[in-house]
Amino acid sequence: MKTDSIYKEEIMEIYSEKPNFGKLEGKTHEAKLKNPGCEDEFKIELKVEGGKIKDAKFTGKGCVISTVSTAILTEKIKGMRLSDAQRMSKKDMDKFLGMEVIPTRMKCELLGLEILKRVK
Ligand code: FES
Repeated sequence: MKTDSIYKEEIMEIYSEKPNFGKLEGKTHEAKLKNPGCEDEFKIELKVEGGKIKDAKFTGKGCVISTVSTAILTEKIKGMRLSDAQRMSKKDMDKFLGMEVIPTRMKCELLGLEILKRVK
């Protein structure tokens, strides 16, 4: 079990590095969505070949939780079939983050996943 401080350190490290943040050259799919509660918004761009996600990036602005979960999500989906990635749930996001996000921050945690489900 991770202690709170180790968890916070990891999260803040990912937040400052923002892996996969930026525009994707050669994108084939995209979608963007605003969290209605806070106006934070991300856009996800994918490069899909033969139904498989070859690359993924995101742009936009969000809080620590939404940024980190979208960064991790765009990393984990590389190599997956788009149809499988779009069937993922909160349980998968909890697993990726290594924690269960409290209900009040659920919209932040799931913003990236909701965008992924709208990608076409
Ligand atoms: Fe806006 Fe988290 S507070 S996405």
